[in-house]
Amino acid sequence: MQPHLKRAIFLLGVVIVGFIFIRSLVVPDSYGQYGAYRGDSVYENRNFTVEYAGSQSCGDENCHKTLYSIWADSRHKTVNCETCHGPSEKHVSNVRIMPSPANDSREFCGKCHYKMVARPSSFPQIDPESHGENLKCAYCHNPHKPWFV
Ligand code: HEC
Ligand code: HEC
Ligand code: HEC
Repeated sequence: MQPHLKRAIFLLGVVIVGFIFIRSLVVPDSYGQYGAYRGDSVYENRNFTVEYAGSQSCGDENCHKTLYSIWADSRHKTVNCETCHGPSEKHVSNVRIMPSPANDSREFCGKCHYKMVARPSSFPQIDPESHGENLKCAYCHNPHKPWFV
């Protein structure tokens, strides 16, 4: 065999062995346990504390039943309680722990409602400069039933 071919084959061998060696160092042990991802991540995710209780638990018997049915019948029914009130799992499992107050700033409502060219024109939007005389939105709109429907 020609010497330059020998050298090329030798170099290829070094690259392959090097690849296998480095791969064995960097691939986590649990990779491939259940599929093409780190098996340990399943346990790590399971250990995260649950922070959101879900809107339905707010409407439970003896809780905010009336408010819940007003909201569920409104155009804000797709905006979950905890979107405005923050994560409230602690409050749901122990009513003595109060959730933090809802964000009632103009900027917060504006995240969804300030006019933006990128938003579909059918989505209700306002111009913050001219709408609502700089008052808080809840001064005129009920956040739980923002309009008559
Ligand atoms: C769009 C934002 C938004 C959503 C969605 C929302 N809230 Fe509120 N909520 C507020 C704001 C703002 C206040 C402060 C009161 C005010 O100024 O009207 C408030 C006040 C409250 C209060 C205390 C005052 C009262 O009216 O008794 C309760 C309880 C409450 N919300 C529960 C809920 C529940 C339960 C849900 C879901 C079914 C919900 N909220 C959904 C924004 C929201
Ligand atoms: C996470 C996004 C989000 C936030 C935050 C939010 N809204 Fe909404 N809002 C919506 C959606 C979605 C609708 C329903 C749009 C539809 O039916 O086409 C809506 C509908 C409305 C409407 C009804 C408009 C109409 O033409 O009937 C008003 C008014 C309104 N919101 C006011 C508020 C106020 C006031 C706040 C703050 C307390 C607020 N929104 C916060 C998403 C949001
Ligand atoms: C002074 C009272 C007042 C305040 C404060 C106010 N609004 Fe309104 N809002 C109205 C009235 C009245 C209408 C209906 C007439 C109109 O479209 O201007 C309305 C309409 C809307 C609509 C429907 C627009 C459409 O074209 O469908 C949205 C969305 C809305 N407001 C969001 C907000 C948000 C978000 C805030 C806070 C940044 C706010 N409003 C503050 C009185 C108010």
